[in-house]
Amino acid sequence: MEKIKTYFTLNYGCQMNASDMEHYAGQLEELGYKQAEDFHDADVIIVNTCCVRESAEKRIQGKIGELKAVKAKNPEVVIIVAGCMAQKDGEKLQKKHPQVDLLLGTAYVNDFKQILLDFLEDRKRVHYTDLTIHQSEFEGHMVRQSPFHAWIPIMYGCNNFCTYCIVPYVRGRERSRSMDSIIAEIERAVADGYKEFTLLGQNVNSYGKEFGEPEMFAKLLRRVNDIPGVERVHFMTSHPKDMSEEVIKAVAECEHLCEGFHVAMQSGSTEILRRMNRVYTRERYLDLVKLIRSYIPDAAITTDIIVGFPGETEEDFQETLSIVDEVGFTGAFTFIYSKRSGTPAAKMENQVPLDVKHDRLNRLMELQNRKSVEQHEKLVGKVIDVLAEGPSKNPKVWNGRSRTGVLVLWPIGDKTYEVGQKVNVKIDCAQTWLVKGTPVD
Ligand code: SAH
Ligand code: SF4
Ligand code: F3S
Repeated sequence: MEKIKTYFTLNYGCQMNASDMEHYAGQLEELGYKQAEDFHDADVIIVNTCCVRESAEKRIQGKIGELKAVKAKNPEVVIIVAGCMAQKDGEKLQKKHPQVDLLLGTAYVNDFKQILLDFLEDRKRVHYTDLTIHQSEFEGHMVRQSPFHAWIPIMYGCNNFCTYCIVPYVRGRERSRSMDSIIAEIERAVADGYKEFTLLGQNVNSYGKEFGEPEMFAKLLRRVNDIPGVERVHFMTSHPKDMSEEVIKAVAECEHLCEGFHVAMQSGSTEILRRMNRVYTRERYLDLVKLIRSYIPDAAITTDIIVGFPGETEEDFQETLSIVDEVGFTGAFTFIYSKRSGTPAAKMENQVPLDVKHDRLNRLMELQNRKSVEQHEKLVGKVIDVLAEGPSKNPKVWNGRSRTGVLVLWPIGDKTYEVGQKVNVKIDCAQTWLVKGTPVD
């Protein structure tokens, strides 16, 4: 009997990469491969990379380095490096790591199956990094990570060129999927038992701009809301400059659109925002928060913040602290500015010393942690609807997420739960990263 071929995946970076990996895995399974428990046993290893910050790159470089020994032991194994770092570094990466057989830039997700088949024919090491070949819409099989939640890319690339950011260089220009193709994918997923969906894009609010009709994203949201079987819809990321009142209204009015808004702020200083090329001011960001809360008082607003952008003074940083205090984010991803060569900010003067960046990050995190508890405390005493994700570290305690993405833990007692089941939980106490409660039914 022929041995079953296996694959192993290592995924880094954002949700877009998580989604791409589901496409890679789907194509491998179409070819008859099964998931391996460990990379030492796999016939194909695929590392999907991120280069948004240097820290991510270093970790990934280390991991690719480890694969050298795997290749030495088993020269037949196919080692593939895909994603944003592969796009950025191209051949250079393959030269540095001779164990890498195939290098796949971000535009080749849908061609992967054929590329792998070609490689298995002649075993010629190749790199595919042409970004001008834009990927077509993916219609193939996917291996989704969750049995009830699906990532749905609605657009690819980014046109914003924030001065610190590498993403537009490695993901190319914005292009939107057709609405019909998105709806069809969600309908197929519903038929497979999926009920929670996250619509993905670097800037979802500019979805469909190239279609020449206004408010395409709000229209898409309403259409997705109306698909029978769809229970929860999330979307990310929102750029403050493009977030429209129509989108907020859609969320306020539609039952299945969840009240969580991930609106990346980056800084509370108008001057820093200007130099980041974010095209909004501190005041405009605050107005947007007010607008969201005027329609949806309990909306959970989350954000991304960078500290130590070139030229950021203590006064600028104080403005970030004060806006964080004022808004009351439910959660924030906080980052130390990382120099990305090829971006305009990398060449700016007055780079902030590392110790100052660390100090600012610590102060920001300390404040945000307190704000997260404050927001979570608002849930105490309320009964909220949670989708069960599975047991926590303690098998007698399960966890799941609220509609707004808050992590909820509850003791199961003598009851049994299923992954994806809806549970009504009364919240008893709030912490920085989660809330705890008791099921009421
Ligand atoms: N398109 C999304 C963000 C994608 S990158 C948006 O604009 O909201 C995710 C986050 O990484 C960004 O929001 C930013 O906060 C952070 N980031 C991007 N480049 C960075 C850099 N050079 N250094 C530190 N953080 C960075
Ligand atoms: Fe990067 Fe800005 Fe585009 Fe987000 S909007 S991906 S931060 S360039
Ligand atoms: Fe990283 Fe690429 Fe996403 S650089 S953050 S994986 S778009």
